[in-house]
Amino acid sequence: MAKNNDNVLLDVIDLNTRFFTGDEVIPAVNDVSFTINKGEIFGLVGESGSGKTVTAHSIMGLVHPPGRVVSGKVVFEGTDLLGLSQKQMEGVRGNRIGMVFQEPMTALNPVLRIGEQISEVIEIHRGCSENNVKERTLELLRQVGFDEPRKRYIQYPHQLSGGQRQRVLMAIAIACNPSLIIADEPTTALDVATESQILGLIEGLIDRLGVSMLFITHDLTIIRSMGQRLGLMYAGRMVERNRVDEFFKRPLHPYGQGLLESIYGFSGSGRLKAIPGSVPNLAELPSGCKFHPRCPCVMDICRGDEPVIKEVGKDQWVRCYLY
Ligand SMILES: Nc1ncnc2c1ncn2[C@@H]1O[C@H](COP(=O)(O)OP(=O)(O)OP(=O)(O)O)[C@@H](O)[C@H]1O
Ligand code: SF4
Ligand SMILES: [Mg+2]
Repeated sequence: MAKNNDNVLLDVIDLNTRFFTGDEVIPAVNDVSFTINKGEIFGLVGESGSGKTVTAHSIMGLVHPPGRVVSGKVVFEGTDLLGLSQKQMEGVRGNRIGMVFQEPMTALNPVLRIGEQISEVIEIHRGCSENNVKERTLELLRQVGFDEPRKRYIQYPHQLSGGQRQRVLMAIAIACNPSLIIADEPTTALDVATESQILGLIEGLIDRLGVSMLFITHDLTIIRSMGQRLGLMYAGRMVERNRVDEFFKRPLHPYGQGLLESIYGFSGSGRLKAIPGSVPNLAELPSGCKFHPRCPCVMDICRGDEPVIKEVGKDQWVRCYLY
């Protein structure tokens, strides 16, 4: 992992998050490590329940009881966020780190005008004068693609479409010039045409503003066209970190290979091949490699100790005994 590197904006080190429910301990995030460079889009991918959202919430201090980050470091702009108080974290969230979530309706206040919601974020973190805030809000609405910012300013969330609401959330996310934006499935609730518009908007903003992004998705095809590096999660673990171009040419982990076969039919038969079995329940994980019951390459050693993630090339890491 890149250490002492000026180009690294976020360094997540051995993150572990658990949910303590009744007499069960659910290991949602296990020894997850990755870095995000300045100006980079890093894709966090994996099937539903693999721990992507809990990882993002752990980074932002948004894991609430019965959940808890039990160990690890989240070094952002040189500070370990896990060492900050709730109050200090509130100064980071929405300010240095912007956030965009899947369902824009729940993230917006239904009884506040769009302009007021954006202005509120600027005021909380910057406290600038009334005039400046309004101007800045109109400029942000323009930046996220609204031709008539004054009209949008006075509208309520229910008067906008899903795609337009997601644009408003982007405006809120970039309002305070953050250096990192965390986007958790920002287009999952949108139709395909709107999705591609929002993805285009995101890419344009990242480019223009020089901001970094943690882009979370279960849809590998999105990351193929927009990320530089990705982390693949399975059962609360990161099983592969790779450069996006390399991953789509030759994924390292058998799980990544299976996923690509199921999407693109890499098996050569021209037919899509699903990975046999299903994602394990986190409360009843198999021994050893958590993918072993489904792995076509399984060996005896895979059922013993769990493999550690190791470096096999530049920006290429894999958690598998084949390497
Ligand atoms: N509040 C909670 N209480 C108990 N367990 C939880 C809680 N939130 C998450 N978990 C556990 O953590 C696992 C990972 O959840 P997470 O939301 O991070 O998955 P995800 O990868 O974001 O999936 P999706 O693609 O569906 O959003 C869940 O399957 C669940 O077992
Ligand atoms: S460690 Fe073994 S079971 Fe796990 S992915 Fe690698 S080969 Fe398959
Ligand atoms: Mg999620």
